[in-house]
Amino acid sequence: MIYLDNAATTFPKPEGVYSAMDRFLRTSCANPGRSGHRMAVESQRVVSQCRQAVAGLLGAPSVDRVVFALNATDAINTAIKGLVRPGDHVVSTLMEHNAVARPLKRLEAEGVEVTYVPASAKGEVRAADVIGALRPETRLVAMIHASNVAGTLQPVEEVAAVTRCRDALLLVDAAQTAGAVPVHIADMGIDLLAFAGHKGTLGPPGTGGLVLGMRADPRPLREGGTGTRSESVEHPDELPERLEAGTMNVSGLVGLLEGVRHVMERSVEGIREHELAAAQAIEQGLARVPGVTLHGPRRFVRRAGVVSFSLENMDPRDVAAVLDTSFGIATRPGLHCAPLAHQSLGTYPVGTVRMSPGPFTTEADVRAAVDAVAAIAGAV
Ligand SMILES: Cc1ncc(COP(=O)(O)O)c(C=O)c1O
Repeated sequence: MIYLDNAATTFPKPEGVYSAMDRFLRTSCANPGRSGHRMAVESQRVVSQCRQAVAGLLGAPSVDRVVFALNATDAINTAIKGLVRPGDHVVSTLMEHNAVARPLKRLEAEGVEVTYVPASAKGEVRAADVIGALRPETRLVAMIHASNVAGTLQPVEEVAAVTRCRDALLLVDAAQTAGAVPVHIADMGIDLLAFAGHKGTLGPPGTGGLVLGMRADPRPLREGGTGTRSESVEHPDELPERLEAGTMNVSGLVGLLEGVRHVMERSVEGIREHELAAAQAIEQGLARVPGVTLHGPRRFVRRAGVVSFSLENMDPRDVAAVLDTSFGIATRPGLHCAPLAHQSLGTYPVGTVRMSPGPFTTEADVRAAVDAVAAIAGAV
């Protein structure tokens, strides 16, 4: 199988992810922070190491401001629902994934006002439009860093330069960028950054998290056991326990630690270069195939390694099905959980076919993918 669906979850994982998880599950898989025996201590140690590694990778202001979650969606829900109250105003964009759009939709029904900043037909949101939508009562700006449909990188730093001087907090959905595009929460002035541990940071499914800047203090959505302050029925106020109730996905975090180590060894810049080269080669190849329309920006400076295209007279689902069954190539068709983004790009409701290379994509994979699309186009 040639895997070009890394925007959904990265595959394969680095070898160290598989071996560390296997070893951990067989030898030390105890509940971290819950008991004093050596297996529990070892379990706690790897959670702390993972927190430290993520803090370093993403520029967290301190290690305890890295809060682990089930995935990016869980982290985004914690941020949005933990901060926004009825009567508040939120600014978001028409490029968001449903991980942001759906929680906001619910809050709108509960008395929160949301302004959605439009995007160009290439998926670009202008910083000036986001800044212009701010009001005195704006509590949160929630915006995507790179589009999972078109790869467009949004101007979060320009927005942060303004929000950092206002009461509004900036939440960045870095599901497509953490580990694949340089991100530094402290330097960039981001208040909350949600990441998917199973994508660019190369961990297993079931991992992700929220990194909090010094101004961000969301209420917990869940209360329960933390292994700390067991004498009290009050949920602890300290981070990260405040936002991490219940037994953690320790084996997942063992894998995430190895994934982050792999990213650090290769460097985020090195991985970005690799993925952009692959994406660019895919685009250049597809651009020569009759009947192909490419979506999103052409320039690779403000792009993540995601390529979206349509093939004339063919439903994207059929294209992806033939790529899968006849050529052994994994892609993702349709709306990619991002109907707003597809409306902005003009590809709603059928969507597109998305090819998303990853750190292990080879030139041969790229050639095979382009040849396969050319063969399908030739047969239409
Ligand atoms: C931009 C973006 N945000 C959020 C998510 C949700 O991530 P997760 O599946 O980890 O919840 C995704 C997943 O594809 C995404 O691409």
